[in-house]
Amino acid sequence: MSNKPKLTTAAGAPVADNQDVMTAGPRGPMLLEDVWFLEKLAHFDREVIPERRMHAKGSGAFGELVITHDISQYTKAKVFAEVGKKTPMFARFSTVAGERGAADAERDIRGAALKFYTEQGNWDLVGNNTPVFFFRDPLKFPDLNHAVKRDPRTNMRSPNNNWDFWTSLPEALHQVTYIMGDRGIPDGYRHMHLFGSHTYSFISADNQRFWVKFHFKTQQGIKNLTDQQAAAIVADDRESSQRDLYEAIEKGDFPRWTLYVQIMPETEAADYRFHPFDLTKVWSKKDYPLIEVGYIELNRNPDNYFQDVEQAAFTPANVVPGISFSPDRMLQGRLFSYGDAQRYRLGVNHHQIPVNAPRCPFHSYHRDGAMRVDGNHGSRLHYEPNTYGEWQEQPDFREPPMALEGVAGRHDFRADDDDYFTQPGTLFRLMPADAQQRLFDNTARAIKGAERHILTRHISHCYKADPAYGEGVAKALGIPMSDVEL
Ligand code: HEM
Repeated sequence: MSNKPKLTTAAGAPVADNQDVMTAGPRGPMLLEDVWFLEKLAHFDREVIPERRMHAKGSGAFGELVITHDISQYTKAKVFAEVGKKTPMFARFSTVAGERGAADAERDIRGAALKFYTEQGNWDLVGNNTPVFFFRDPLKFPDLNHAVKRDPRTNMRSPNNNWDFWTSLPEALHQVTYIMGDRGIPDGYRHMHLFGSHTYSFISADNQRFWVKFHFKTQQGIKNLTDQQAAAIVADDRESSQRDLYEAIEKGDFPRWTLYVQIMPETEAADYRFHPFDLTKVWSKKDYPLIEVGYIELNRNPDNYFQDVEQAAFTPANVVPGISFSPDRMLQGRLFSYGDAQRYRLGVNHHQIPVNAPRCPFHSYHRDGAMRVDGNHGSRLHYEPNTYGEWQEQPDFREPPMALEGVAGRHDFRADDDDYFTQPGTLFRLMPADAQQRLFDNTARAIKGAERHILTRHISHCYKADPAYGEGVAKALGIPMSDVEL
């Protein structure tokens, strides 16, 4: 007999028989008083929780951030306070459009959500493997989701919906060029760069504000799959990225990424040649070079996938003193959406789940709510202001005020900035000829099935980025350029 703990009900009573339900005689119907059966099935019936609306399929691991260079003149964040400083972290990588059971090796953006358990609270950087995004206004996010997910009638993914939407937004071309290029199918999560993507802000000890972008470069080297290689992998293994990450960590081959920042002094934003808060654009590294900061290493697989990965809750709203937001509309929109989604997906007290809980002392005075299990602050008084010194705010951490101007209204981003094609053109010209050819062919395969006016609209946008880009896609699609309205 094993000396392992014996099976009990959730209430702790011994389970005497886990093989046979209780029946009236050997051939008779079941009895309602088989409470173990009722409990077991009722729990099973509720095992599935809602999947993430985007990024449903993912893999996670624990690790640490190690600081190797001093950037404390830009930020007072304790996480960057000194060279050699180590901060524990959790990372979750994901594909975007597929559901929880989707295959890993699909052409798609990869999510890269990082949670740093700093001594002043959790800092979440919820980014992607590309430095830009499809558009610049968060009001369009649910439309993106609907366009790339299943069609309401056919219940199939629809190239027509997908490309009708993308090509209706000329600013999407930069992101689309990344996805249709070689980096559209990374060979596992270890072999891709990670980006914070948005412009964030750093606040220094003397209360200066700097704009900042975060870059993590893979130390494993970039490795991608062609459409053909990916198809062969998916035919054999739908969890190729999960397997690659899990097995590397199990055998002690811990993946690392070098962290860099680009820093822009606050006042330079107004005159920078690219809109600094436009998520469809990058900052030139010539203008704002990469500054090395440290590295992240992932070195521990979670013991239980559901507990730590499925229940992980990341939100760009989680910042700490010295790191903050920017006027980027997309970032502002995300500040609401993640916590809101998680209150639905996991519940209002999801902060108590160990992977989400801060590892520093914390003292938030939210009370009650479903599944509150941490003592709920016992009898401590529950209002503020009070005359007993409870729940004091911390004015030392106030951010410097930010000068804003202009009239409130629904300002059209396109009227402010309609340069959609300069940066996709630059990205295209950076690709060697064979990579350009794969971009044409990948695009043709992905857009196939969309109506002709959508194909020609995309060709026209590509042409505006670079005539060779437009001509290459047109040729791959067998469409004469004379059919394309430029
Ligand atoms: C997941 C909303 C743009 C990266 C999610 C989720 C929502 C969401 C609701 C599911 C959250 C959950 O259930 O825990 C939005 C909205 C956006 C936006 C409204 C724009 C207005 C972006 C951008 C990036 C990004 C620009 C990257 C730069 C991610 C990642 C995840 C995610 C990595 C998965 C997080 C995880 O692993 O748990 N997004 N998103 N999203 N989003 Fe976004």
